[in-house]
Amino acid sequence: MTDGVVPSPNIWNHPAAYELENRGVDPDGVIEAAMHRIRPWAGATVLDLGCGTGFHLPRFAATAAAVIGVEPHPPLLALARNRCRNLPTVTLRAGTAQQLPVADAAVDVVHARWAYFFGPGCEPGLRELARVVRRGGAAFVIDNDATRSTFGGWFQRSLPAYDPVAVERFWAVNGWSREPLEIRWDMASRADFESVVRIEFAPELADQILAEHPGTTVDYAVNLFWRHF
Ligand SMILES: C[S@@+](CC[C@H](N)C(=O)[O-])C[C@H]1O[C@@H](n2cnc3c(N)ncnc32)[C@H](O)[C@@H]1O
Repeated sequence: MTDGVVPSPNIWNHPAAYELENRGVDPDGVIEAAMHRIRPWAGATVLDLGCGTGFHLPRFAATAAAVIGVEPHPPLLALARNRCRNLPTVTLRAGTAQQLPVADAAVDVVHARWAYFFGPGCEPGLRELARVVRRGGAAFVIDNDATRSTFGGWFQRSLPAYDPVAVERFWAVNGWSREPLEIRWDMASRADFESVVRIEFAPELADQILAEHPGTTVDYAVNLFWRHF
């Protein structure tokens, strides 16, 4: 499956380092708490869209009635299936945001974290969300906020043409709300921090970042975009 798949070299080429990243992202649970305030998912059906290796699926499965992970990249789908093999309420499906393998009005909460929904161009995925989310449900998109934080500065340096104002405008025009959040990376060691920086940034910029930023943590601004259905 390649139609409409957004290349994700960090997790496609380095799933082990991406696992370290996921373990170190948002140790305070700021994103989950914000989502929970807006639309809790205990007893609900949750769709994790672009679920990668399924890192977040067990956490949703702890309280949701059912969890669906959708992922287009076959090796990652296999890793997600393996991770959730003993979780009977979790189902994994091959698919994309633009053509969701999900019935109409079948889910209550959608979570898309750093996956496909990056602003202008994701309209086909938005139409699919409107089809699959039940009345009373909500969808959440988690993306970088390049206007704030140390990590945001690194991200903007890596993509000088990136226009965060246009991205925010896109979500507002489409009727989504924005909750700006401050999270952090907290890696277990400097070696882990280095390997994660190196999968997120090109070699030259990664060298600069590592030379100027000591330690194992960094402050990181994200936007939680969300809407009720
Ligand atoms: C940066 S990874 C994030 C993975 C996961 N959400 C996480 O937080 O661990 C982006 C994921 O989106 C997937 N992806 C790429 N194109 C997609 C599409 N059109 N629809 C849904 N997912 C897509 C990639 O294969 C990859 O697994």
